[in-house]
Amino acid sequence: MNIKQVTGIYFSPTENTKTVVEGICAQLPVKRERLDLTDPGQRPEYHFLENEAVIVGVPVYGGRVPATAAERLKKLHGRHTAAVLVVTYGNRAYEDSLLELKLILERQGFRPIGAAAVPTEHNIVPDFGKGRPDKGDKKKLKQFSRMVGTRLWELASNYRIGKLVVPGHRPLKKYHVLPLKIKVSSSCDGCKTCIKKCPVQAISRTDPKVTDTQRCIVCMRCVKVCPKKARRIPKMVMFVVRHKLKKVCSERKEPEFFIL
Ligand SMILES: Cc1cc2nc3c(=O)[nH]c(=O)nc-3n(C[C@H](O)[C@H](O)[C@H](O)COP(=O)(O)O)c2cc1C
Repeated sequence: MNIKQVTGIYFSPTENTKTVVEGICAQLPVKRERLDLTDPGQRPEYHFLENEAVIVGVPVYGGRVPATAAERLKKLHGRHTAAVLVVTYGNRAYEDSLLELKLILERQGFRPIGAAAVPTEHNIVPDFGKGRPDKGDKKKLKQFSRMVGTRLWELASNYRIGKLVVPGHRPLKKYHVLPLKIKVSSSCDGCKTCIKKCPVQAISRTDPKVTDTQRCIVCMRCVKVCPKKARRIPKMVMFVVRHKLKKVCSERKEPEFFIL
């Protein structure tokens, strides 16, 4: 049996995770597909076969898989399909996220064969992890992708392999993310880009200045896509958040890789 196709799957509001997942896929010498779970709206169930592989990536939110991503991953169904797990994080910590991603995918019928935890720019405070993944990180990612390629070939050749082990603790840490609010300035011209792009439809269909704070996951997508730069976290709040994160985010973290 040969691996016929690899699908890069991601939930990636500000596209750090998308970039890493697509970078890994690009190194694999098989037919490639992509599945973006970020946009809002209804989705069908997705089924993957034994002769396929998936590279699944999510950002880390509060040391966990974002609840929205966890929900959307339940639409994926494998049949012992080989899976490579990817978490990206803003140079603080990835804590239980990789373990959580592994548990979710195993439950959905996938067989994890490799995993990566990759520091990126922090999408709330971009001073942390600035310019990551950098040249050195990309080199390591390339090496990892090659190892994944080899493992997939071994799988296809029916080599016996064990179970992937990744860091993390059970029970998983409590899901907690900072309750931040996005402010909209008068330069908003009502173009509705944010409304279309919000992964959870938290922005009012009629007035982009109104956000449902119960729905909003503070993923920073609306801030990134706004052509007028009209959306942001208020300066004073940013000052406090930056100060709070400074100690834990300043020291450089290295990407970590795990392979069967
Ligand atoms: C709500 C929220 C919570 C976050 N929590 C963490 C965290 O616990 N640890 C960390 O290092 N980075 C954290 N980050 C930073 C993101 O994980 C990081 O920037 C990620 O690469 C964003 O991925 P994306 O560009 O695919 O959306 C958080 C970001 C957001 C928006």
